[in-house]
Amino acid sequence: MNLETVILAAGKGTRMYSNRPKVLHGLSGKPMLEYVLDAAVAINSTAIHVVYGHGGDLLKQRFSDRDVTWVCQTEQKGTGHAVAQAMLGLNDNSVVLVLYGDVPMIKPSSLGPLIDIAQKNKLALLTIELDEPGALGRIIRDDKNKIVAIREYKDADAAERQITEINTGVVAAKAKLLKQWLNRIDNNNAQQEYYLTDIVQLAVADHIPVESINPQTALEIQGVNSKLELAELERMHQQQQARTLMQQGLTIVDPARFDLHGQLDFGRDCKVDINVIIQGHCKFGDNVKVGPGCIVRNAQIDDDSVIEPFSIIEDSQIGSHCSVGPYARLRPGSSLLQSSKIGNFVEVKNSIIGVNSKANHLSYVGDAQVGKDVNIGAGVITCNYDGANKHKTIIGDNVHIGSDCQLVAPVTVSDNATIGAGTTVYNDAPENELTVNKKEQIVLAGWKRPQKN
Ligand code: UD1
Ligand code: CA
Repeated sequence: MNLETVILAAGKGTRMYSNRPKVLHGLSGKPMLEYVLDAAVAINSTAIHVVYGHGGDLLKQRFSDRDVTWVCQTEQKGTGHAVAQAMLGLNDNSVVLVLYGDVPMIKPSSLGPLIDIAQKNKLALLTIELDEPGALGRIIRDDKNKIVAIREYKDADAAERQITEINTGVVAAKAKLLKQWLNRIDNNNAQQEYYLTDIVQLAVADHIPVESINPQTALEIQGVNSKLELAELERMHQQQQARTLMQQGLTIVDPARFDLHGQLDFGRDCKVDINVIIQGHCKFGDNVKVGPGCIVRNAQIDDDSVIEPFSIIEDSQIGSHCSVGPYARLRPGSSLLQSSKIGNFVEVKNSIIGVNSKANHLSYVGDAQVGKDVNIGAGVITCNYDGANKHKTIIGDNVHIGSDCQLVAPVTVSDNATIGAGTTVYNDAPENELTVNKKEQIVLAGWKRPQKN
């Protein structure tokens, strides 16, 4: 079967008050249009056509890696006109599915049955009953409960406005039929637009059966016209994700203050405190605790590890029984081995921290390989950058580095070495020995503090 998906995204998005096309605005950190493209791919679309009106360059740039046909609708004359712009390039035998770039939560599971109906040379509509149908198009049925028309709210009379079954806008039909109908619609209506919805009456006139399917949830068909609606949809989406995760056993301290932008896999007894943002693909083992205000992106955190409040973890791996934070930052390529500890105001980048090693306070550990049972004192800095290139610091096992040392890379501190406080390590430090810089402490007898004039 040929399935061609047409995604409408030409609306001005006036109520976003934005210079960016509406469909580029993000939901959970991902442009709305991307969700719709993903849904189109998930249902095995043979081709995807996006009808755009504004910001074509931005759209094409953002989705340059996608196999999409871009169709420009220079003037927005209505949904029927928009679909008609894409029809020129469509194969007559294809099933056409119409989706919307500003209705991002649509699920493949709701689309499959629509496609099946269209495949049988019928017109398929996605409709839903809403308690508050607002200004959406109403589904008109005859006394045998057969769909005979869709009436736009602005064209509907008082009785029709009482109808609570609405048109989500999502439709599917064979291209050949759709082309015939779109050629016949006009704009004699309240908005002087070419309504896609008018194809329903034409299908009825042509004795083509019209059938409807309901989505699983109203969230799926929620459109976005303003930043308020975007934020509302974001919350609904997050609440739904939180509910699913909690049902699978995750402890979320407050589901109203939980954000997942991607995927989270987790074991038993994991807990996520308030205002945590989880991004990309994260994997937690058993009994992982993430404290308030943390951002965790593409991280693997193994059993019994704790992330204390306000820590940021990015593209990193944390072994079991580790502790990170509060106020720690793990930048990409950090790997903490079992039972290691990264404390407050410590930044780690592209480094391995060995088993049971610690950097508890105010340090920068970059491009370093740290052995096991190492203690990195407060304020220790790996000077990894010479202004042109980055260099490695290698620290052996059971090394003790006193407070406020600088390790000027490339440099190696061998096993069991001790570095005295305040030492600048320019040259390799030998094993088992104490390395210090020669410094002198003097006392200026009788010295007086300056006095304020
Ligand atoms: C449309 C439906 C209505 C349905 C509602 C669901 C029609 C005539 N009405 O109404 O029955 O209940 O959606 O949200 O179809 N667009 C274009 N080009 C255009 C016009 C619109 O690409 O020329 C796109 C918009 O970007 C938007 C979508 O089509 O994503 C819907 O357009 P809009 O004008 O908002 O239709 P509604 O009045 O919401
Ligand atoms: Ca709309």
